[in-house]
Amino acid sequence: MKYFIANWKAHKTIFQAVDWMQQFTKALYSSPALEALKANEFTIIICPPFPFISDLKNNTLKIPNLFIGAQDVSMFHEGSHTGEVTASSLNGLVEYVIVGHSERRADCNEDELIIASKVEQLQQNKLKPIQCIRGGQDTICALAALVAFEPVDAIGTGKNMNVAQVVEMKKKCALQPGQSFIYGGSVTPEDCREYLESPEIEGFLVGTASLDPHEFLNIIQTAVR
Ligand code: PGA
Repeated sequence: MKYFIANWKAHKTIFQAVDWMQQFTKALYSSPALEALKANEFTIIICPPFPFISDLKNNTLKIPNLFIGAQDVSMFHEGSHTGEVTASSLNGLVEYVIVGHSERRADCNEDELIIASKVEQLQQNKLKPIQCIRGGQDTICALAALVAFEPVDAIGTGKNMNVAQVVEMKKKCALQPGQSFIYGGSVTPEDCREYLESPEIEGFLVGTASLDPHEFLNIIQTAVR
C-alpha cells in the first residue's frame, strides 16, 4: 500500500476547496491511479481545514480508497471546551487525522503529552492517527496508524531530505507491526520517484504540492507501475 496525503494547512476558501476536489476527482477518473485505488494498492487522504470537510466528503463517496482527513483534533473528550474539535465530532466525517505536526508543536506549544492524548482520543473514536515526527527526539505513539517523518528543515523549503537519510531514520524508529512509515517535506512530482523506488517508504505527506490538484495527482501517478 502506498499512501498519498494532502495537507492543505490553512489554505483555500470553501469555493477553492470544492473546485480543487472537482478538478481532482475528474482527473482521477481518467487516470491510471484509479485502478491502483480499486486494487487496494493506493490510499489517498485529503486533509482540508475543518470547515470544508463535509462538503468535500460528498465529492469523494464514489471513489474507492479516497478519504477525507483532518489536520488536527482536540486532546479533550467532548464537553465544555469552547472552540475545540473533538474526535467524537469528527467520527463519521473523516477516517484519518494528522497529529503532532511540527507547525502545531511550534505554533501551539504541543508536546508529547498533548499529542499522546490526541492519539488516545482518536483511538477511542475509531479514527486512524497519522502521527508526524520531526526526528528521533519525538516519541512514536504505539496507536499511530501511520508515522510521517517530516524533518523541519525540509518543510516548505524545497530542501527535501535524501532517501538514504529517510530510510536511516526509519531504522531508528522501532515501528510497531502494522505501522506505516511515510515521508513529508518538499515532496514534488519531480523528486517523488526516488522515494517511491524504496520499499521502505510507504508514501508521502504533501503540503505545498498538494494545493494544486494536478500537481498532487502527478505525484500519485508517478507511483503507478
Ligand atoms: P511541504 O509540507 O510539502 O510544503 O514541505 C509538508 C508538510 O508540512 O506536511
